[in-house]
Amino acid sequence: MTQIPRAVVIGNPISHSLSPKLHSYWLKRYDLPGEYIALQVTKDDLAKTLRSLPDQGFVGANVTLPHKVSVMQFADHVTDRATLIGAANTLIFKKDGGIFADNTDGYGFMANLRQGAPDWDPMAGPAAILGAGGAARAIIVALADAGVPEIILSNRTRVKADALKAEFGARIRVVDWVHAGAMLKDAAMVVNTTSLGMTGAQDFKVPLDALRPGTVVTDIVYNPLRTKFLDAAEAAGCITVDGLGMLLHQGVPGFERWFGKRPEVDEDTRRAVLA
Ligand code: ATR
Repeated sequence: MTQIPRAVVIGNPISHSLSPKLHSYWLKRYDLPGEYIALQVTKDDLAKTLRSLPDQGFVGANVTLPHKVSVMQFADHVTDRATLIGAANTLIFKKDGGIFADNTDGYGFMANLRQGAPDWDPMAGPAAILGAGGAARAIIVALADAGVPEIILSNRTRVKADALKAEFGARIRVVDWVHAGAMLKDAAMVVNTTSLGMTGAQDFKVPLDALRPGTVVTDIVYNPLRTKFLDAAEAAGCITVDGLGMLLHQGVPGFERWFGKRPEVDEDTRRAVLA
């Protein structure tokens, strides 16, 4: 008997993950045999879990916090973009026992922007990024790759922004956190990659008076879906794109490789995941 293909999201904690809803919805929508589950895995159990999954019919995995960086050491092949970002979120378990690791966060970010702000031109001007954590890394790599002429980066802890500049190069300009509001006047697009504004986290407090109408503004926070940051940007005449789409789009490459169908991200998908 051939087993149905299974995929899993591993992390700790994992109960909040929307990935099972997303992939289960796509499996049903395209009438594909398969299963997608969530598995809580501690750091100590990561190696053992990865070794045992293929024998249980798993063809791949999504990886979330805190394993995105450490999982790289178990991969036999790491894509260039995952190597550049220094983290992986998508694994494929190959028939020969090897593990292929990719990072689709930057892809998800760009695909969400292209869908939500189709007229945005990467060459139009500088991109301003708030925050310098793991999500910022993926977004910086994606924006630089797309040809954005300059990335203006500000983070509460400045040394982290300086470290990203040292790593990713000359197109990045670092600005002190106290001047994060003022840097927005030069931006053709603005991204919040901090946790500010997320339910349970502190409020978003960067002043937005310098935002110019027509600027493309996006938030990686999707809980709540409409953050105060996005509301304020919209009131200032900006084009806003919420963060849920990044999560949905980053799931596309994995689903296609595991289950053999490139799934669509549309209103029905959003509704299914939010239900
Ligand atoms: P992720 O991988 O999702 O990016 P992270 O690596 O923990 O998560 O990064 C969180 C980001 O939110 C960081 O840029 C962090 O700033 P610091 O590097 O100074 O910690 C930012 N952040 C979190 N809480 C913040 C706050 N109260 N004010 C400003 N920035 C905050």
